[in-house]
Amino acid sequence: MSDAALPIPASTEADILSALGARSIVLVGMMGVGKSTIGRRMAARLKLPFVDADTEIEAAAGMTIPEIFERHGEAHFRDGEARVIARLLEGGPLVLATGGGAFMREETRTRIAAKAISIWLRADHDVIMRRVRRRADRPLLQTADPEGTVTRLLTEREPIYGKADLTIASRDVPHDKIVEETIETLRAHLCGERAAPPPPADVASAGR
Ligand code: S3P
Repeated sequence: MSDAALPIPASTEADILSALGARSIVLVGMMGVGKSTIGRRMAARLKLPFVDADTEIEAAAGMTIPEIFERHGEAHFRDGEARVIARLLEGGPLVLATGGGAFMREETRTRIAAKAISIWLRADHDVIMRRVRRRADRPLLQTADPEGTVTRLLTEREPIYGKADLTIASRDVPHDKIVEETIETLRAHLCGERAAPPPPADVASAGR
């Protein structure tokens, strides 16, 4: 076999981008699982824009999320969230980190299924608690018993998050390890298992 006939190994990132077309990558899952951190790094790897839905909602409302909850209530926030995500999905491909409740709305799940590949970043209760304790800007956790609230939300939400196309275990390992796993899982989902690499030239010619 001449060198010119050897398959050129295309890069993982290029394979993913061409299989995605106009579809986006949407990260779903509970507060504190790392959707924004992982999403931002994935976007950098894939050279796609990164958008955080919560940040977009705040910009559209001209208020922070706690202010929206306080002044207008959760239902108003959820309507704005659904509208903002619908708009963002029209502008793909991009990497979109959604707020923890967004995927609960059926209309939003249907839109995501039509316009994106969804990835559930799944973390266990203890990991979530350790991470959400660091910030006080999540209105749903301003309760007398945040641990109990997280337990209840996980019970309600996990069966729905499980409808995402892919699931990745988010845990206390370096972010780049989760990014690597996510990129490889995405590639396998979009492009299938990797073909076995051709044998090195010395092995290939040894039997001739
Ligand atoms: C929420 C999660 C938050 C934010 C809002 C409600 C939820 O986003 O959208 O406080 O219902 O789980 P993060 O998941 O980015 O913290």
